[in-house]
Amino acid sequence: MVKIALLASGRGSNAEAIIKHFENHTNVEIQVFSDIADAPVLALAGGLSIKAEYLPFDETYSYFSQNRFDLYVLAGYMRILPDEVLDLGTFVNIHPSLLPAFKGKDAIKQAYDYGVKVTGVSVHYVTKDLDGGPIIAQVPVNIQQWMNFAELEEEIHNTEHTLYPMVIESLLYDKIVDFAPGKPKCSTDGCGGCGGSCAH
Ligand code: GRF
Repeated sequence: MVKIALLASGRGSNAEAIIKHFENHTNVEIQVFSDIADAPVLALAGGLSIKAEYLPFDETYSYFSQNRFDLYVLAGYMRILPDEVLDLGTFVNIHPSLLPAFKGKDAIKQAYDYGVKVTGVSVHYVTKDLDGGPIIAQVPVNIQQWMNFAELEEEIHNTEHTLYPMVIESLLYDKIVDFAPGKPKCSTDGCGGCGGSCAH
């Protein structure tokens, strides 16, 4: 059994996409945790028959040090996790911009207001640098001249909902290059692009 901890603070649209994606994967077990007691994501996950609980931020380390997961997935989790928590396993996050541009809060708005013509979505490993960990996957989104902010937001979220489950599945089944520092890995079906540094 592969265990995923999904950490979220808000509405949980990414959590929903991930839960639905893995619905028929009988070997994948997802649990949802929120640092906000009444976050909509908890009710949403409960409604999809997924174990969901409030985990106060200051109890994160003690909980996860006693309850380990194969992958920790941040989906709109609005806290900065300390090193002692990050050292417990592999943490990934999704960010609504093409990193390293527009880190931090309101990234979609930052890009829109700046006037860039291309923004997008990034999935990256979580390190102590906010939105600064190694990038795993990115998808660009064009900001068309006719687009208003709401339309851009919708396109970014739709892109997230497609990309994130796919990347998580790829990481779980080792389908793509793992860019985690110090551990180059390639697809078992052949070289995934490491340039010859892996042991495939
Ligand atoms: C997403 O845009 C994600 O990229 C960012 O926070 C937002 C969470 O949205 N990190 P939701 O709670 O998954 O709907």
